Amino acid sequence: MTTRLDRVEQTRGRFAGPPLTPRTAVIWSVLRAELDRRGDAELTVLDVGGGTGGFAVPLARAGHRVTVVDASPDALAALTRRAAEAGVADRIAAVQGDGDALAGLVEPAGVDLVLCHAVLEVVDDPTPVVTALATALRPGGAASVLVAGRAAAVLGRAMNGHLDLAATLAADPAGTAGPRDTLRRRYDAPGAAALLGAAGLVVEEIHGVRVLADLLPAAVADGQSAALVELERALAAQPPYRDLAAQLHLFARRPA
Ligand SMILES: C[S@@+](CC[C@H](N)C(=O)[O-])C[C@H]1O[C@@H](n2cnc3c(N)ncnc32)[C@H](O)[C@@H]1O
Repeated sequence: MTTRLDRVEQTRGRFAGPPLTPRTAVIWSVLRAELDRRGDAELTVLDVGGGTGGFAVPLARAGHRVTVVDASPDALAALTRRAAEAGVADRIAAVQGDGDALAGLVEPAGVDLVLCHAVLEVVDDPTPVVTALATALRPGGAASVLVAGRAAAVLGRAMNGHLDLAATLAADPAGTAGPRDTLRRRYDAPGAAALLGAAGLVVEEIHGVRVLADLLPAAVADGQSAALVELERALAAQPPYRDLAAQLHLFARRPA
């Protein structure tokens, strides 16, 4: 069976993108389909919690204009250096700001594509952040949202022998392992989809990211990296594999 990701890989768009890794391959496949769909248009992109520009810089190199909002001055300084080295400093704006106060930082309905990767699990309250993401999008604009997966965290703690933490995490409504947990919450697919849906976004696709990568010995992952990327892509959309991934990627759209 030919999956959507297979079709995307066969597409020859103008965006080649960065080298694919188990952390990024599935996300870039989904984003590339959206960029191809938009043809040669120069998109306005907002990357909330975009950090050092792992996604922002390749998107700017592909000809788009990217604003990165991040709380960390150090991350933004690294982003600025990286953008200059890549020759896209004029296409990237670095804005220091708190995702929790996003509504005051971005104009409504001015963005074609919003990225919010690995952020909703650390902000004080994800609901106003997602509402602000949706508000920032033009009608028809798309959101790429990556969140920490709950099931993988339970299994990971159990496999490391921390059965108490696994039990706490499994029972906690927010999916945290107690006060020493570095994340404030984790998601399953229905919960993440409901969060976006409540903000008026229509979820089009959900993929698992790092279904296998974190479970393999480093020697296996490093020695067979191309095969691992292919297997991650093959499993990403399929429950139950999808739902056991370390992260869940949701692609959603503001209705036109
Ligand atoms: C795990 S990193 C993810 C970076 C990037 N999105 C990625 O996927 O590679 C989380 C980023 O969110 C930023 N961040 C954390 N809390 C934030 C907040 N409340 N508002 C804005 N950015 C925040 C951090 O500074 C960091 O750059």
